[in-house]
Amino acid sequence: MPKLLFDPMKHPDWIPPQTAEWHANLASETGRYKYPWNSVFDEPRAEVIFADKIAAYLKENVRVLDVGCGHGEFTKTFAHKAKEVMGIDINEEYIASAIEETGESVTFFVVDADKRLPFPDDSFDVVYTKKGPWLFHKGIEEGHRVIKPGGIVLGLYHCGTDGGLRNLFPGLYYPFPDSYLEDIKAKFERQLSESNLEKIELQIYEEIEYLSRPEDVLIKKCFGQKETLKKIVWQECLKQVEEIFLQYTTPRGLMIVNYHALMIGRAR
Ligand SMILES: C[S@@+](CC[C@H](N)C(=O)[O-])C[C@H]1O[C@@H](n2cnc3c(N)ncnc32)[C@H](O)[C@@H]1O
Repeated sequence: MPKLLFDPMKHPDWIPPQTAEWHANLASETGRYKYPWNSVFDEPRAEVIFADKIAAYLKENVRVLDVGCGHGEFTKTFAHKAKEVMGIDINEEYIASAIEETGESVTFFVVDADKRLPFPDDSFDVVYTKKGPWLFHKGIEEGHRVIKPGGIVLGLYHCGTDGGLRNLFPGLYYPFPDSYLEDIKAKFERQLSESNLEKIELQIYEEIEYLSRPEDVLIKKCFGQKETLKKIVWQECLKQVEEIFLQYTTPRGLMIVNYHALMIGRAR
């Protein structure tokens, strides 16, 4: 077992990922929610499966809402596949990036999805989120208010990465419990059943990714962190990460597994 690596999560400058502060830092540096590390994937990618599932519900008269659309790259892939596609996000800088080069059937708005949405009742035939806010939790009315009865709700959530990564880099990563996969399946089953949607599908996908270089292990870990912290992590970890990476890498790169939950339901 390699000796413990430096743990950036214990550094005072660590920003907990996916918080408003973390998105604000990422958006101020890049304006985009885009993974910065180099890697290749085995097909099919979870996001491609998700895009195909969404596309199966699109027709020329369908109105679509993307909740937490980030910089809108994924949203724009549905341009001209529906009557109208709207992306909303709370982060102004992501939306500013999204608005650049917007096609005519896709529009973007800065909206806090935790508040009342600026749309009339029964506005959308399809509401989806890729890793953004889920508007159908028990006690939240807005999702059900803006989707038409019989409308389709889809969600894709990243549920963490392993495939050995967590054992290879102790300190930098912590192992999942043995019951991890069952736990996330149960969590998303619960989320779907408590959402007052008729269940169509729930799948946990294991997506295989290969990190290209040792630095990519650190770039992935420090996604959205401040440059000052990254410098410290590079100084503390790069040498050890290089040694471990070179020992375990494959011709395609260091294999990791990303878990994704994909949910589809129908509004009642
Ligand atoms: C993990 S990112 C995913 C971005 C994009 N959907 C993607 O897959 O690349 C989550 C997104 O949800 C947005 N978000 C978080 N809370 C929100 C809220 N209350 N209202 C609207 N958007 C929110 C964040 O700003 C961020 O862009």
